[in-house]
Amino acid sequence: MGNTPPAMDPFGLPSDTGGKDLGVFMPIANGGWILSKNAPPIDGSYEYNRKVAKLADEIGLDFIMSMAKYRGYGGETEHWRYTLDATACMSALAEATSRVKVWTTVHTILQNPAVTAKMIATLDQISHGRAGLNVVTGAYKGEFSQMGAWPEGVDHDARYDLATEWIQGIKALWTQDSVTMKGKYFTLDDCMSDPKPSTRPFLVCAGTSRRGMDFTSQEMDAIFLSGGDAKELYKASRDAKEVAATYGRAMRTYSMMTILFGETDEAAEREAAYYREGLDEGALRGMMKAYGFLDAEIGKENAFVQKSRSTFQTPHVLGTPKTVIERLSDLLEESQIDGLMLIFPDYIKSLPIFGAEVLPALRERFPSVVKEPAHV
Ligand SMILES: Cc1cc2nc3c(=O)[nH]c(=O)nc-3n(C[C@H](O)[C@H](O)[C@H](O)COP(=O)(O)O)c2cc1C
Repeated sequence: MGNTPPAMDPFGLPSDTGGKDLGVFMPIANGGWILSKNAPPIDGSYEYNRKVAKLADEIGLDFIMSMAKYRGYGGETEHWRYTLDATACMSALAEATSRVKVWTTVHTILQNPAVTAKMIATLDQISHGRAGLNVVTGAYKGEFSQMGAWPEGVDHDARYDLATEWIQGIKALWTQDSVTMKGKYFTLDDCMSDPKPSTRPFLVCAGTSRRGMDFTSQEMDAIFLSGGDAKELYKASRDAKEVAATYGRAMRTYSMMTILFGETDEAAEREAAYYREGLDEGALRGMMKAYGFLDAEIGKENAFVQKSRSTFQTPHVLGTPKTVIERLSDLLEESQIDGLMLIFPDYIKSLPIFGAEVLPALRERFPSVVKEPAHV
């Protein structure tokens, strides 16, 4: 490959030209990403998400993304019991916004590729070319077996084989008049899908296992790396970009980050300590069950539980806007990842602060020239 990495396809994002893509993980599920009885209540409603999307659009963030969730974790807070459909919600939010990219999530084991091709082409039309798709293979059996949709005998890696057929079928439907494909999991027979998207929808996946990363490198435009400090993210990001380069492709790398603002750093720490006191033990047990922990392990004080006691489900930074600027700048610089998907304990209060005080500093530190992609 030499030393020149493959060029990024342009998507009208800062990362097209070396900047950082900054977006919002939409709180379409109650409780957001904090497992605490003491966190500000987030109801996961459309009204709340509409306000969040409009704020993200107004302050100049690059994308909003919804997860797809079908079963919560329980506990006193009934964490993630109330969740909106990702694509219905993002379609409406496309109408409510004008600039920010709108990325939905679809499970490859739930939706037929021809249905998904059309859903995303519709999102493209509503959003005037701002559509994106987070591809998820489905990891938690109970979430899908509750609706008879867990493919028995299709293990973790095979679910990525299934996803490969799925996305290749979708890409063909987005570009060809008629598609015939006889795969192991999907069959398309002189299948037609119009209208075509006006511009190539952005594709992202959080396949962080070896097989998941391999799939992502071959088929996606970006990967979500989970967790870790700057050093771990640097390594994971470099690995992902190297694997993609072996396929002659450029890969954007993102991570998640929860931001808790305070008037002072100590005030933010105190707020976090208050969340910690209110840990929803029942929801934590539910999350562990979903993650596949054996019943015998649930309730024990293992490393996972220790980490979860913070109640933050993702890496987080706490402090004044100045502290947040420093931490995020250092993280983005050291890890060399291409962007962050942000979470806030209180989106409505925090997004204006992020827009006024943090975003301008990050844009200055990581400049880019955003060009709209050419429509196909
Ligand atoms: C940012 C991010 C978003 C995700 N969104 C979803 C989602 O909406 N629905 C879902 O079932 N899984 C979701 N996942 C889980 C991933 O799809 C994936 O299963 C997980 O990261 C494990 O990687 P692996 O499949 O390569 O083992 C998400 C993960 C991350 C890091």
